[in-house]
Amino acid sequence: PRQDPDTFTASDFVVVANRLPVDLERLPDGTTRWKRSPGGLVTALEPILRSNRGAWVGWAGVADADVDPIVEDDIVLHPVPLSADEIADYYEGFSNATLWPLYHDVIVRPEYRREWWNSYVEVNRRFAEATAKASAPGATVWIQDYQLQLVPKMLRMLRPDLTIGFFLHIPFPPVELFMQMPWRTEIVEGLLGADLIGFHLAGGATNFLYLARRLAGHQTSRGTVGVRSKLGVVQVGFRTVRVGAFPISIASGALDEQSRSRSIRARARAIRKELGNPAKILLGVDRLDYTKGIDLRLDALRELIAEGRVDPTDTVMVQLATPSRERVESYVQMRGEIEMVVSRINGEYAEVGRPVVHYIHRPVPRDELIAFFVAADAMLVTPLRDGMNLVAKEYVACRSDLGGALVLSEFTGAAEELKQAYQCNPHDLEDVKDKLEAALTQTREEGRKRMRALRRQVLTHDVDRWARAFLDALAHEGAAGPALVAP
Ligand code: ADP
Ligand code: F6P
Repeated sequence: PRQDPDTFTASDFVVVANRLPVDLERLPDGTTRWKRSPGGLVTALEPILRSNRGAWVGWAGVADADVDPIVEDDIVLHPVPLSADEIADYYEGFSNATLWPLYHDVIVRPEYRREWWNSYVEVNRRFAEATAKASAPGATVWIQDYQLQLVPKMLRMLRPDLTIGFFLHIPFPPVELFMQMPWRTEIVEGLLGADLIGFHLAGGATNFLYLARRLAGHQTSRGTVGVRSKLGVVQVGFRTVRVGAFPISIASGALDEQSRSRSIRARARAIRKELGNPAKILLGVDRLDYTKGIDLRLDALRELIAEGRVDPTDTVMVQLATPSRERVESYVQMRGEIEMVVSRINGEYAEVGRPVVHYIHRPVPRDELIAFFVAADAMLVTPLRDGMNLVAKEYVACRSDLGGALVLSEFTGAAEELKQAYQCNPHDLEDVKDKLEAALTQTREEGRKRMRALRRQVLTHDVDRWARAFLDALAHEGAAGPALVAP
């Protein structure tokens, strides 16, 4: 329901992210409706904000959407408008053709364009201004992800009364790669406007501490940063900025419960039947992104079939690939490559009416997705680099039957926690094949043992624990930190 914007009071807790949790969709008849936004960030943050009754500042997902704030399920949504040019330069350009590939190990070559950077600065300023307006005096503001790395400093200049946290949802790169960035010092200084900067992994936090010394010339702590403990510190004038590792997670309890429901179980059985009751179902669930290694898991399957190690008449693979960033060139190219391998496998091994690979390039409703998780004998998560990967955790949360097997790339943040998965090196195709085969041929006992251990991890480390750890650390900003070392 819409409300008069003047009736909104400023909030004590504000989340700021590139996207709102819902996207505005323009329908062919000219009307509009809201639909859930793609990606792990929304999956993680939505439950937190709902229980805190806060506000969310973000883009509505379409160009020039001049919409008033709205209330959705107790959350006040403040849309930040982006023009078509800004979508091209700030979002598709600097965010997704510069930062995204740079922070994901330069799998694709990052492009450094000055006009994209200028747009990034301008849009970050707009987000800072919108947040300053939405925040009550002394509020806590939590800024999210790589699209908004300049907002902490900009917001602090506008509103020194706020407590500001920042969390990076993607990997923070090795120092040698970060140093490519022409605007590296501006980015480090932008982040240092926060009181607390969070990364998924301790390695990212350590890299950042080094850069705060080297590029911004601040004193910092040295030594390792712990997970949800032992924060690093950067002394920025009179301010102490803290830096920590907070691996994100999912609402595992709720998902566990949903996956046990009768209707989901029935749907999972129906899916198996619709697929022709194969002996084994393999599943991939991703945004269609070149970081996810969708192509290489298909290559692994094709070779296993060719070598007679997987039977194409009794094995089915389902790849659900949500469309993502479809105007960015490297995404267009990756889509073409994936679709070629899918049709090659089917061309070589499918029978009429019985494809080996079922490929869906559309978002799948949540309930349907859960039923797929319940139905799958092996879940393939093979990114070349991924900050965390929530899909791996979602699969585990859905397997209260202790069935199934998780094949997981070592190059995901999740691999640091999900040790009992079949971990593989995605750059080593033979290793991916071996782990996929091991997952398909495991004994029932072996599978149950691994899944029990994985579930213990995922169910005890849920998204609430992640948010609580971060927000507690942010609230205790005065606590004494470790000794500082000069740059
Ligand atoms: P990222 O943040 O890079 O997109 P994550 O694995 O961390 O990757 O999070 C992806 C989120 O989007 C998960 O909650 C997942 O269930 C959801 N998702 C991914 N692919 C699909 C799909 N094809 N259909 C529906 N939801 C999807
Ligand atoms: O953390 C990964 C991420 O980039 C999020 O910031 C984002 O919400 C999600 O993936 C989906 O990407 P996009 O918003 O570009 O569609």
